[in-house]
Amino acid sequence: MRSRLPAELNRFVGRDRELERLARRLREARMVTVTGVDGVGKTRIALRAAAAAAEQERYCDGVRLVELSALDDPGLLGHAFVEALGLTDHTARPPRRLLLDHLAERRILLVVDGFEQLVDSCAELLRELLRACPDLRVLAAGRLPLRIDGERVFPLAPMGDEDALRLFTERAAGVRAGERSVEGHEVAAAGLCRRLDGIPLALELAAGRLGTLSVEQLLRRLDDRFRLLTGGGRGALPRHGGPGAGSSGRRRAGVGARARGSAARGGAHAKARRLPLRAERGDGGLKR
Ligand SMILES: Nc1ncnc2c1ncn2[C@@H]1O[C@H](COP(=O)(O)OP(=O)(O)OP(=O)(O)O)[C@@H](O)[C@H]1O
Ligand SMILES: [Mg+2]
Repeated sequence: MRSRLPAELNRFVGRDRELERLARRLREARMVTVTGVDGVGKTRIALRAAAAAAEQERYCDGVRLVELSALDDPGLLGHAFVEALGLTDHTARPPRRLLLDHLAERRILLVVDGFEQLVDSCAELLRELLRACPDLRVLAAGRLPLRIDGERVFPLAPMGDEDALRLFTERAAGVRAGERSVEGHEVAAAGLCRRLDGIPLALELAAGRLGTLSVEQLLRRLDDRFRLLTGGGRGALPRHGGPGAGSSGRRRAGVGARARGSAARGGAHAKARRLPLRAERGDGGLKR
């Protein structure tokens, strides 16, 4: 079994039920797309599901990641796939031909991530590949579906309270001076996780601040922010739903972020400067 996926750099937390459901979807459909808001964990869960799938006979020719987040030119899309598959060619075949020839009789799972800026070209290429290569399967991850016939959409909701607290605690433990910051402060930490509505990227960024702020200080600062936005009142901001909104109806705070790139790189902190937290809904945020 040849799988070439990036190794995880930090611990994967929770998502047991989602992983089970995603595995089932992957067995049922040739193309599955994990969708959801920025930083909700699409890349991370897709890679996890793909790594588990790599053990299966169905993918005896391997599992490959096609990471497109750095690509803006649709003209280079085929090349990106060729490169991800490690294909070298000494003929003048165009990338598409090369891909079709290579994938025609192979049992491969392609994980396609970060395609948002190239959604139309990517959908067109995948449609062609899936039509011509009967044993090809695709697991995509993006904010919106690709809208290809046969695509099964897997909307990923924010983490539940328990997983969110575990992730926050886990990441806090990795922060210097933040090591023991959750211990004895579980109530505030749980409040913080709820305030960040279980968005993993937001939880990681918050944990990253524990070197200089306590959990209570962080929570207070977030409160102040919501108060500022709502003019001190509750429910002043309009309700806002959308892809990835928690199925439980939990309020969510999105992250105004392009958190693309391999989650396995664990690059949340590097993204921090570009990621102001954005209150998409402020109503419930003030409740405690
Ligand atoms: N289940 C999890 N366990 C541990 N870390 C997680 C988990 N889910 C997400 N993360 C971490 O949270 C951050 C955001 O996750 P990820 O990059 O997968 O989100 P995304 O939905 O793909 O974001 P984007 O919309 O920007 O592509 C990453 O640093 C990732 O490693
Ligand atoms: Mg992603």
